[in-house]
Parts: sequence; structure tokens; C-alpha cells
Amino acid sequence: MPKITISTLDKMKAAGDKFVCITAYDATFARLVSEAGAETILVGDSLGMVLQGHDSTIPVTIEDMAYHTACVCRANTDALVIADMPFMSYSHEADALTNAMSLMQAGAQMVKMEGGVWLSDTIHSLVERGIPVCAHLGLTPQSVNVFGGYRVQGRTPKQAKSILADAVEIQDAGASLLVLECIPAPLAADISRKLDIPVIGIGAGAGTDAQVLVMHDMLGLSTHQPRFVQNFMADSGSVQEALRAFVTAVKDGSYPAEEHSYT
Ligand code: KIV
Repeated sequence: MPKITISTLDKMKAAGDKFVCITAYDATFARLVSEAGAETILVGDSLGMVLQGHDSTIPVTIEDMAYHTACVCRANTDALVIADMPFMSYSHEADALTNAMSLMQAGAQMVKMEGGVWLSDTIHSLVERGIPVCAHLGLTPQSVNVFGGYRVQGRTPKQAKSILADAVEIQDAGASLLVLECIPAPLAADISRKLDIPVIGIGAGAGTDAQVLVMHDMLGLSTHQPRFVQNFMADSGSVQEALRAFVTAVKDGSYPAEEHSYT
């Protein structure tokens, strides 16, 4: 597979071809994800929960993220690597520039930040300085304490309108990708149609341009499996087979099914 770039993903969206993102935090799994044909790897701050055992992503530091990004990038072959900016590492623009630099120097090709309109100046600054940005809207886990739990977002007309407005704003600010997490499937499909940039869904139905899952969830290793997760290990003989099954299911449209989506 040729090296994946943002223009590969733009072309896939234009052609209606779905692409795949899987989280990885170390060299071995990064190699397997890349060999399974996923176009993108997310070094997610979900590592705070699945690797470090915290009950949220809030304790994760920029040093943790740079360390795991470097581990992933040593073994990744073709996938585009997106690294999460952890909690409070981008709340001020100057910090965002310094912290994004650490992740890019660790080998990431893009950084991800949770937020909408309030982030637009920061997104603009990063992009102007050569750092591509993926934004993240909907259930943004770093705001779990504001939401009062891991709850589906965008169910009221007011919330839905605000998520759509945020999505348009971050695209206008220069974001290259958008993750939509745990929002009703019709809203995610509408946003994906309205935006030019590719939209990656998680718990957001089948109408987005791509799907992402946390690797430990899709391998059935997590203690709590949210409704939108399918355990791809259940019918596979190896981790490699499970990863390939996820890639195939996203591309042929069999995952996510209705039972994995919210209304
Ligand atoms: O940290 C992460 O793994 C994420 C995904 C849930 C999208 O942000």
C-alpha cells in the first residue's frame, strides 16, 4: 500500500470509499494495524484508560503521548498517524503550538483536539505553521465531567445545531479531519454530507466517511463494551484476523449496523 496522506483520504471521501482508523499505542500493534490495511492509526489518549488503568483520559500527559507516538511511528509502515493532544495541553494557543510540536517531532502526521468554535484560532495557527489538525466533536471524553458521564450527545435540536455549527467552523479554520463520537446516526450522516473534509465516526452510525474503534474494545478486551462496539475477536482465530475483519466490515458497509448506532 502506498503511504497514506491527507490527499489519499480526501480522494477516498470524494469516491465514496470508506476508510479505517484503529487506535494503537505501541510498535507491535502499530505494525499489525498497518499490515491489516487500516489507512490511519490513532495514538489516542484512550491509552489513559486501556494502558494506564485510569477511569478517564484526564490524567494523560503530553510526555505520555509523545512516548507512545514515537513507539507507534517506529513500526508503522503506511498508515497516517494521528496523535491526541491530551487534556489541557491546547487550552491556550501558545501551549498548543509547543505541545503539537512535541507530537509531530515524535513522528505524528496530524494532531487531534477535542472542541469546536473555541478552537478555531488555535487550529488556524497550527495549520499555518505546518501542523495538520483533526478535530473531535460530540462525546468528547476530556469533557466527561462537564457532561456528567459518557453520554450520547446531539439528541436535542439545540445540541445538534451546535455540533453542526462547530463542524463547519473547524473546517473553515483549516482542520483536515473530524471525529464525531456518540451522536445520533442521522446527525452524523448530515454533517458528513455537508463537510468537504473526511469525517470519522465512532458510535455515530454508518453515514460517516470512516470508522474508528479503540483496539482493546474491538478485540473484546475491555471490561465495559459500549453499544457501538463489535467484538471482532469473537469470530477470529488471531488478532491479525480480527483487525482485518474490522477493516473489511467498514469497507463493505457491514459495520456499523443499526444495533451499533444511536437515534
Ligand atoms: O482517544 C481515543 O482513542 C479517541 C477515540 C475514542 C476516537 O479519541
